[in-house]
Amino acid sequence: MIPDKVPKEDVFYGAEEMRRTAHVPTFDKYKDMYMQSIEDPDKFWGDMAKDFFWKSKHTGRFLDYNFDVTKGEIFTKCMAGASTNICYNVLDRNVHERKLGDKVAFHWEGNEPGDESTVTYRELLHHVCRFANVLKSQGVRKGERVAIYMPMVVELVVAMLACARIGAVHSIVFAGFSAESLSDRIMDSQCTLLVTADGFYRGDKLINLKILADEALQKCRDKGFPLHRCIVLKHLSKEAQETSLSCPPAKRSCPDLQDRETSRVKKSRPVPQVPWNPEVDRCWHALVAAASDECEPEWCESEDPLFILYTSGSTGKPKGVLHTLSGYMLYTAATFKLVFDHQPDDVYWCTADIGWITGHSYITYGPLANGATSVLFEGLPTYPDVSRMWQIVDKYRVSKFYTAPTAIRLLMKYGNEPVQKYKRDSLKVLGTVGEPINPEAWHWYFSVVGDSRCPIVDTFWQTETGGHVLTPLPAATPMKPGSATFPFFGVVPAILNESGEELEGPSEGYLVFKQPWPGVMRTVYGNHGRFQSTYFKKFPGYYVTGDGCRRDKDGYYWITGRIDDMLNVSGHLLSTAEVESALVEHEAVAEAAVVGRPHPVKGESLYCFVTLGDGRTFNRTLEAQLRKQVREKIGAIATPDYIQDAPGLPKTRSGKIMRRVLRKIARGEKDLGDISTLADSSVVEQLFLNRCQPAL
Ligand code: PRX
Repeated sequence: MIPDKVPKEDVFYGAEEMRRTAHVPTFDKYKDMYMQSIEDPDKFWGDMAKDFFWKSKHTGRFLDYNFDVTKGEIFTKCMAGASTNICYNVLDRNVHERKLGDKVAFHWEGNEPGDESTVTYRELLHHVCRFANVLKSQGVRKGERVAIYMPMVVELVVAMLACARIGAVHSIVFAGFSAESLSDRIMDSQCTLLVTADGFYRGDKLINLKILADEALQKCRDKGFPLHRCIVLKHLSKEAQETSLSCPPAKRSCPDLQDRETSRVKKSRPVPQVPWNPEVDRCWHALVAAASDECEPEWCESEDPLFILYTSGSTGKPKGVLHTLSGYMLYTAATFKLVFDHQPDDVYWCTADIGWITGHSYITYGPLANGATSVLFEGLPTYPDVSRMWQIVDKYRVSKFYTAPTAIRLLMKYGNEPVQKYKRDSLKVLGTVGEPINPEAWHWYFSVVGDSRCPIVDTFWQTETGGHVLTPLPAATPMKPGSATFPFFGVVPAILNESGEELEGPSEGYLVFKQPWPGVMRTVYGNHGRFQSTYFKKFPGYYVTGDGCRRDKDGYYWITGRIDDMLNVSGHLLSTAEVESALVEHEAVAEAAVVGRPHPVKGESLYCFVTLGDGRTFNRTLEAQLRKQVREKIGAIATPDYIQDAPGLPKTRSGKIMRRVLRKIARGEKDLGDISTLADSSVVEQLFLNRCQPAL
């Protein structure tokens, strides 16, 4: 499956000098290790597991599974029976066994330049222990779910690791999601406590997070799910800075909530409103000030749940993807170490938000498990100007940098000057994730950002896979721009045709995986049936990714994009069904259909067709209301770019909407293929006439 020889032409190689120290220095070494990982996974992962602390050993097989629905329940177990604690492994082990207590875990860089702090491994351990004690004092017990809705601050990492320390299950909701999305997730995973913050700035824009959190809790109450405890971090307040995580605990005090005079918020800007409900709300700072910084970790079983993270589903509500302890820990640690070729003096920066899986695996767990020093960035790539990223790279001498194609395309628009103003000579490896990277963006990233010196690791993976599954290794794999290249250790990909037959050699079809790796998801929280039917029913015996894929003559894998009704907007998966249902909830809308339209920066944008109810007219006001409605129901990332009045939708005689035709209309492509099955083909002409023009 891995080619014997890699091509010499049309491929790019990273810096030769990396080879001297790289964990996987050559393609031959990669192939050897890959074969070992497939032929004897127990030994391969068993060796990796030796780096970690186990309170007790596993019993039975290292990796046990069933991927075939026709043979019974789908399951994966890794190191079942062993007991450990992931927080212990990423903090205590680094501080006590590996003597990394004084090493910086995070350089925190705020939205506003100059707003910064640093936290070492030892300090992080203290903060986590304190907050773990806070959670316990609030009655949180092992196995309970804790919702976290926070900006990109060190306290977010503290909150998640504190949950892990006491065996509670974190369910982080991206702070860009709406109150409704938050309430749906709190209820679905039956959280017993919410951790949030007063607010934060994204560039110039104030996000009043606490107000959204309150709205979400009200919605929960309205639906008969009262949540009684909410811990609020005062991030934008003066006290939050005085008690910032790099200050000694003695300085902490319970802040007066009215005092919000702060340098984190520019003088000319509004301060956040922090409504306070004394029955439910608790002040983070006061609770922490009263807590001890000693907290014995809760020893958990390998297959105990670690976290739930929601991802869009092509039908119905978002799915709560559940990851468990030991397999996820091993897999994120191993992928981080090998894919970024982590070395002790690296400074690593992943620009993702912790609210997405990339942040879970490659800001928190993977880097900390390796004792890495990371940059944690709260702001935007374009604030205060489009050089911000490169300024930060030079400031901290970042050596490994991980971002998304959408950010690369955005910055590419501004030309080379904002990049070349900074030296970037510390960079060694560049990474990308979230969607296929177009070759033009790849070349710009490689030659301008990386000065043609740094290999690019194009990492394909999903919330469900826990970590990278197809990816180059920076010193070993010759790169082809736009290809995620080859499988990571333990991963066995295949390409299937519509009848479920495995295709050999150069081919294109459904990307599936034939066996689990330690970090694969275990279930959809509370709905194992949905887990089995979403990923395992279509092709029994395989995990189905939902992505299309091509394998070229050299054996390289190229992701061609989603083949279900999902859209990828700026690297975030969105379900067309979810956006449609947000639109039809508006009283004027009778029916809606949403498709993707290519976008030069976001990859795809949302193009919505709406059919109005009788007597309703389509106008700018309605358009604005619909946009607002979608933002409120889902979040800003789902804001439609185009909304078109559709007096009729192209349907088959059986009433099914032909999305293929709508996609063509959205793109302005006249060649519609066979439309003989349409019940009324005249609607198509009308839709072409009403087409939204591309935004300027
Ligand atoms: O379509 C693939 C795309 O993102 C999807 C997974 O999205 P999510 O679960 O939100 O996780 C994103 C971060 C891991 C995939 O099914 N995708 C992700 N990485 C790549 C990609 N498509 C092509 N190339 C990639 N490197």
